[in-house]
Amino acid sequence: MRRVTLTQFLIEQQRAGRITADLRLLIEVVARAVKAISVNVSKGALAGVLGEAGTDNVQGEAQKKLDVIANEILLQANEWGGHLAAMASEEVETVHQIPFDYPKGGFLLLFDPLDGSSNIDVNISVGTIFSVLRNPPGGEQPNEDSFLQPGREQVAAGYAVYGPSTQFVLTVGQGVHAFTLDREMGSFIYTHPFMTIPEETREYAINASNARFWEKPVQRYIDELQQGKTGPRGVDFNMRWVASMVSDVHRILTRGGIFMYPMDDKCRDKGGKLRLMYEANPMAMLVEQAGGAASTGRERILDVQPRELHQRVPVILGSRAEVERVTEYHRET
Ligand code: AHG
Ligand code: MN
Ligand code: MN
Ligand code: MN
Repeated sequence: MRRVTLTQFLIEQQRAGRITADLRLLIEVVARAVKAISVNVSKGALAGVLGEAGTDNVQGEAQKKLDVIANEILLQANEWGGHLAAMASEEVETVHQIPFDYPKGGFLLLFDPLDGSSNIDVNISVGTIFSVLRNPPGGEQPNEDSFLQPGREQVAAGYAVYGPSTQFVLTVGQGVHAFTLDREMGSFIYTHPFMTIPEETREYAINASNARFWEKPVQRYIDELQQGKTGPRGVDFNMRWVASMVSDVHRILTRGGIFMYPMDDKCRDKGGKLRLMYEANPMAMLVEQAGGAASTGRERILDVQPRELHQRVPVILGSRAEVERVTEYHRET
């Protein structure tokens, strides 16, 4: 069997005119950073990387050591390649400028360096999420406004999941493709071409401890699922919640389902729990590219006009029919 590496895949995408050389380089560099993060994640306690960093980030969360390490790896790997105009990270308050002695390029890179960080210390899968935008014309020195583009403007998006194997999942707007890290070879091998989300599902993911804070449409939807065979849906549904968005979305890309972090009374003042630019947008692009749907309950996630870099939004994504049903329940109220 011919083993296609990520590098080969990207070169072929470039030859087919689907990506530019600059975007290929950018994705290669992100993938290289992901390998370094994977090494740190998998060494765990042996490398002393578990536990708290002792600092808080702009999100008001206590940073884990691996949040800080992954963030540093991504910033450093991407600074010098000449393909970026600037970066933005969940862990950094403002726009990260490219140091003046490096050349600049035309893209903006955004990332959640370590997703699911509450799972690090219990050895459960975590991930990295990234999103690529074009730097708007005239933006020699990008500022926060340069980044405030709706998700439909993304030129690429993806994530890495550090699970039993490390996988790199990518879209450049032509389907979703996944690669598995061959640790001995140090390369990503193309293992999952054109991932698609099955239409039918019997599985949902939501943090059910928030049930009393949910809005009516979500309460109604989950209540109907929980009634199972004897309820209006007429079938039993199963629930899964990893609490690493990357893992939950990876399961949905693999075998279908619906994932929700909806608006609730706990996160209402912040606008939602998950971050639009680092979590919702890249995952929404992947999910749509895989044939699914992604909504805030009120509008398509990819159409949300961002107002600030660290903006939060409600997230409902996965199998199309289920997302449409929840959205319909929102419309009715
Ligand atoms: P992060 O670790 O990047 O801050 O993101 C955590 C997010 C997401 O991965 C997950 O779906 C959600 O938070 C879990 O929230 P709960 O702890 O409320 O279940
Ligand atoms: Mn965080
Ligand atoms: Mn996250
Ligand atoms: Mn994070």
